[in-house]
Amino acid sequence: MCARLILLLVSMSIIGHGTAQSPPGKDTEPKQEPFKPRYETRKDHDPDGTGKFYMGREIAQVMGHQGAGWLERPEREREEHCSKMLPALRLRNGDVVADIGAGSGFYTFAMAQLVAPKGKVLAVDIQKEMLAIINYRIRKGKVKNVQPILGTVTNPKLKEGTVDLILLVDVYHEFSHPYEMTVEMVKSLKPKGRIVFVEYRKEDKLVPIKEVHKMYEKQVIREMEPHALRHVETQKHLPWQHIIIFEKIEARKNDRG
Ligand SMILES: C[S@@+](CC[C@H](N)C(=O)[O-])C[C@H]1O[C@@H](n2cnc3c(N)ncnc32)[C@H](O)[C@@H]1O
Repeated sequence: MCARLILLLVSMSIIGHGTAQSPPGKDTEPKQEPFKPRYETRKDHDPDGTGKFYMGREIAQVMGHQGAGWLERPEREREEHCSKMLPALRLRNGDVVADIGAGSGFYTFAMAQLVAPKGKVLAVDIQKEMLAIINYRIRKGKVKNVQPILGTVTNPKLKEGTVDLILLVDVYHEFSHPYEMTVEMVKSLKPKGRIVFVEYRKEDKLVPIKEVHKMYEKQVIREMEPHALRHVETQKHLPWQHIIIFEKIEARKNDRG
């Protein structure tokens, strides 16, 4: 009986000891769950959308290569003030820029001049027909610092840690796999490299673009939250679009995914 009592007291003291030794809160701290992208599908969706939703936003259909003429329309400068967008990028000779969703190369060739002679522009698109237009323009203009790249819907096929700035004009909202694309884009950036979103402002009903092709600033910021990016600034001086700028940070949140 006495031996049993001693055993009980000893075991209680072991339990008590163990509990007292744990640093306060250590065992109770909730584990950070890895971010998993969820793509919902819905039947009630915008006719120009895909019926696929990411973080509450409907993903738009990809603009076909037949729309290249619209990208090169003469009134684009008057409508979008494209020449006022470029200074926001603060490009310098020697920069390596990726124009993802380059289309017909509207911005590709303008940026190629800004980073020449030492820098280059990587023109990424998933449509071979768009890259054929870019290749034609390279040959015609004897352009030395534009490199066309055929990407996939999940991967822009850029080398890790090599890019200073990624430009996404009117394209992110039509990525079928925005999370996977962003993971790869972040990997391709150099430390402190930047990703710049130029999207039509959904906050402004007067912007004459279909709703599914516009994005709220808050939505873009929300979708970048799981990634190793810091929102630096949003510029709103263009008539239809906002310029939303992020910088790569060292905290490698993507590794959690
Ligand atoms: C509306 S156009 C914009 C073209 C160009 N940025 C401009 O402003 O003139 C969108 C382009 O993004 C491309 N695109 C869509 N999803 C893509 C992806 N995951 N990776 C690369 N390009 C993509 C389309 O093929 C299309 O050429």
